[in-house]
Amino acid sequence: MNDTDPTADPPTTGADATEADGAGDADAADATEAARSPVLLVRENREYLLQPGERMETDLGILRVPEDVQPGDTVETHLETAFVVRRLRGPDLFHHFERTGAPMVPRDIGLVLGETGASTGDRVLDAGTGTGVLAAYLARTGAEVLTYEQDPEFADVARENMAMAGIADAVEVRTGDVTDDLDALVDGSDDVAPARGFDVITLDTADAPTVAARADELLVPGGYLAMYVPFVEGSREAALAAEEAGLVDVTTHETIQREFSYGERGSRPDTAPVGHTGFLTVARAPDAPNLVDDSTETTDGD
Ligand SMILES: C[S@@+](CC[C@H](N)C(=O)[O-])C[C@H]1O[C@@H](n2cnc3c(N)ncnc32)[C@H](O)[C@@H]1O
Repeated sequence: MNDTDPTADPPTTGADATEADGAGDADAADATEAARSPVLLVRENREYLLQPGERMETDLGILRVPEDVQPGDTVETHLETAFVVRRLRGPDLFHHFERTGAPMVPRDIGLVLGETGASTGDRVLDAGTGTGVLAAYLARTGAEVLTYEQDPEFADVARENMAMAGIADAVEVRTGDVTDDLDALVDGSDDVAPARGFDVITLDTADAPTVAARADELLVPGGYLAMYVPFVEGSREAALAAEEAGLVDVTTHETIQREFSYGERGSRPDTAPVGHTGFLTVARAPDAPNLVDDSTETTDGD
């Protein structure tokens, strides 16, 4: 029997925690912010995503996360097994969120972020939420996200995922079919929709073309629409809907990525399945739709 009190705060080590004691206001504020965020407790092939103050029973003993835990600290179980504290990063969301709707993989999220440029201060309309991985990545860029999930149980899980990731304030998970709310989102009667329009719309639903057909009304001038579609037929339909809605720069990307292994005998792409995931169709709202004139001649000398 182990005499250690499992309910006592475990010992912690780590330069960050001790340095914060004597730091200035800014450092103290940073430390307070970090202390409110969830962290990963890592040991060999184990990773636990936990909140400051949380307690968890593991096969290596009971973990209690100190309220003032900091990345780089070491937290021991009551059996004195040490875990290192790691700051939560984007890919950790993909691995640790409770899964419902098939989450978008990090490489495809990279393409969405790269092609739309979603960033701090942007207002994003997202559907469907599913597991919420894309919505969470968008929020972690500093954007505010309104995301729709038609399945109430999936929506509840997504809200819990956002809370666990510490981004519940930046992501509103709305239960419902996004296509039912398009009028309200466009005409300003929705109290969450930005009056000036959304900066970015991201769609991962079979009915993306229905939303795309209203994208010119939903987006700010120059704003981006990104539609993630598993089949090329759906992707074509999405691209045509965006064009018919008057969006410009409509492009479709196939998302392919191969991992390489460096073996004794040589280097080559992994033999594991390459794995098609989807097509990403991106389009942009015209900068000044009222100035577009079909009769305008081109300026390339023709
Ligand atoms: C593939 S998952 C989305 C995954 C998400 N992008 C992520 O990274 O976790 C698609 C989700 O969209 C939801 N959905 C489909 N059509 C919808 C609609 N019109 N409005 C709201 N949600 C919808 C489905 O219930 C499903 O959970």
